[in-house]
Amino acid sequence: MAVTLIVGAQWGDEGKAKVIDFLAENTDIVVRYQGGANAGHTVIAKGEKYIFHLIPSGILYSKTVCVLGGGMVIEPNAFFDELNQLEKRGIEIDGRIRIADNAHVLLPYHSLIDAKREENMSITKIGTTKRGIGICYGDKVNRTGIRIGELLDDGFYKNRLPLLISEKNIILKNIYNEKEINLTETEDFLRSLGQKLKKYLINAPYYLNLEIASGKRVLLEGAQGTMLDVDFGTYPFVTSSNPTIGGALIGSGVNHRNISDCFGIVKAYTTRVGEGPFPTEAYNEEGEALRKLGNEYGATTGRPRRCGWFDVEVVRHAARINGLTGIVLTKLDVLDSLKTIKIAVGYEQDGKRISYFPSYGVERIKVIYEELPGWEEPITNYTKLNDLPKNAKKYINAIEKFCGVPVCWVSVGPKRENTIKIR
Ligand code: IMP
Repeated sequence: MAVTLIVGAQWGDEGKAKVIDFLAENTDIVVRYQGGANAGHTVIAKGEKYIFHLIPSGILYSKTVCVLGGGMVIEPNAFFDELNQLEKRGIEIDGRIRIADNAHVLLPYHSLIDAKREENMSITKIGTTKRGIGICYGDKVNRTGIRIGELLDDGFYKNRLPLLISEKNIILKNIYNEKEINLTETEDFLRSLGQKLKKYLINAPYYLNLEIASGKRVLLEGAQGTMLDVDFGTYPFVTSSNPTIGGALIGSGVNHRNISDCFGIVKAYTTRVGEGPFPTEAYNEEGEALRKLGNEYGATTGRPRRCGWFDVEVVRHAARINGLTGIVLTKLDVLDSLKTIKIAVGYEQDGKRISYFPSYGVERIKVIYEELPGWEEPITNYTKLNDLPKNAKKYINAIEKFCGVPVCWVSVGPKRENTIKIR
């Protein structure tokens, strides 16, 4: 079957972009299915570093078509900036980018309101990227959003836009004491944006399912991770979309019967950015050491990431929801210098052992750890499983055994070639 799904199995930043980049070599179409410019996907190819926020990470292969799926929220300036950057660096993008016409447009008022809400001490601070993501998805669900395809529809400017803007102005003026939006200027901007985007637009379910039927291989690229999913993550400290498999179907329009593999991207330890519970978080020197070794700073906001130990319960949660067929274990080399490595093998909540990731009361979890011996040697130059030190293999085996999912690839360094295929 033709479709492979890539999902983050933790709190995002698992190294999905590197995996998508190396899998894209044998793929015809890569579809990013949710999120927006909150994501920062880093790829190192031929000695050059690229960070993608909106464009799928498959863009570096000259034959791959990249689709921004209908589940995305697209900020036009970020999109055009990214295209310019790619063109400047000699990446041929002509005819290789498509945008689903049901994706939503993210406008400056979305980011403004996001930032204002984060600064407001009387609202729970989520630690968002302030890119307007939650506000734009909120508009979508409230039916006050703007589909990209509508930018080409005269009826939208006549019937919907004036009402949308007048509602936004009530909010901006009365709640945030901000300047009102000018309707005529907004219409002019959106009409010209529609003309600029026209050549990229597709009806994604039609285009993708037809391409799949003609034998094309498709990769569905998730942003963020299972624990940031608005339904299955650590709510309310989540993003406002579904990085999990349901979001992949909704955000692409690909028929579920075409999906054969679902790879969970799993970092060899755990990180999260922003607020919210994190059961295996390591504090003080322990956490600081992981942050330094892994260079754990956000690719979008530059914020230091919170770091901690591998959490089996988190990955099992992701395996259940997404039906993971395999794990890609990333950043194993970051643990090279550690004498011992902790791994969370179970939880207690309110004095009772639980064997699932709870939907509430996560801060009351007591973590049960096991400690494994480290391998204390650099592994980045190894290319085969058998080359890896005995204790690194033991660590990989423990992850497979506890999570109940085979580890298919291990990433031992930032470059494409620092990847070991296991099965
Ligand atoms: P938002 O997606 O900007 O609304 O932020 C909501 C939460 O998701 C915050 O904790 C962010 O730090 C987190 N988040 C959003 N995008 C990413 C990402 O690409 N990687 C990791 N965390 C993210």
